[in-house]
Amino acid sequence: LNNGLARTPQMGWNSWNFFACNINETVIKETADALISTGLADLGYVYVNIDDCWSAITRNSKGQLVPDPKAFPSGIKALADYVHGKGLKLGIYSDAGIFTCEVRPGSLYHENDDAMLFASWGVDYLKYDNCFNLGIKPEERYPPMRDALNATGHSVFYSICEWGVDDPALWAGKVGNSWRTTDDINDAWASMTTIADLNDKWAAYAGPGGWNDPDMLEVGNGGMTYQEYRSHFSIWALMKAPLLIGCDVRNMTAETLEIISNKEVIAVNQDLLGVQGRKVYVAGTDDCLQVWAGPLSGHRLVVACWNRCSKAATITAGWDALGLESCTRVSIRDLWKHKDVAGDVVASFSARVDAHDCEMYIFTPQTLFRYDI
Ligand code: DGJ
Repeated sequence: LNNGLARTPQMGWNSWNFFACNINETVIKETADALISTGLADLGYVYVNIDDCWSAITRNSKGQLVPDPKAFPSGIKALADYVHGKGLKLGIYSDAGIFTCEVRPGSLYHENDDAMLFASWGVDYLKYDNCFNLGIKPEERYPPMRDALNATGHSVFYSICEWGVDDPALWAGKVGNSWRTTDDINDAWASMTTIADLNDKWAAYAGPGGWNDPDMLEVGNGGMTYQEYRSHFSIWALMKAPLLIGCDVRNMTAETLEIISNKEVIAVNQDLLGVQGRKVYVAGTDDCLQVWAGPLSGHRLVVACWNRCSKAATITAGWDALGLESCTRVSIRDLWKHKDVAGDVVASFSARVDAHDCEMYIFTPQTLFRYDI
């Protein structure tokens, strides 16, 4: 969507994966505080996004949405002011149907009123879900909210959460700043890997202004190993997915913080070329040895060697799979070890990768000097 936002994928936090409906204004404020104190905000995680269950069960007598008086007694405007005071942005949630998935009022047929209300509160981001949609096509239900947000005159990031039902990559580029390509993620290896593959299919449709969204991060929620979370974060970054933290940032382990704070991996995600990397090569049983790669600015490449097998293995990235001329010499930097690993590699590069782990590199082709004399 050409609204000036999402030049790179959005980064921030969302309440759903960890808290589900157990949210309140204290949790949101403490999360904003923690994003600052952990240094995550400085790394680019600026959206503090409230998901489902923030609103009361019914609209008020004027037909307006109201925050749940128990969980958000000070209201959303006060929360937005608090979050803005820290230099962060506030996101809210509604639904392109008559109810949200947790049966709060939806915004279908209330688009203009609700968009005006969100804007009056100072909201910077809207996640727009797909429950209770009366069977109306998403291509009809999502554009009215885009137009309503635009008409407020406020700059609001528009995140389409249509779960990939009606191939949103094919139509959402003109409607939203990102679109979910899949059903909900679970905090499990099988879910994460399945979603990565589903999202890969739509790589060609992503770019500045609009991104494929394979759902929010589960890093730090406890259902995967350190190696699996590192894979999750590496591949989401490479796929130019939104980097929306889904754990309780007030209580993270050092390992969780280390993964989501990896500046070099974040820089891949936020690279201004904005091309979604993809799966370029597979080998092994059930194709479990994989190379994912994509172009970056400055004629560089990001290359991930992802071992989805159950044993450690060597994964070889050949120049043909990466689209490089076979004689190209490249220098290679390891983004997890934070080290330059090789200065002059030709034809292929092999990495030893632990089971369910992912090594990630930047390949910089050396300039070829040609002397025509
Ligand atoms: C379904 C969405 O896909 C989730 O991300 C979350 O927003 C829930 N609905 C909330 O009800």
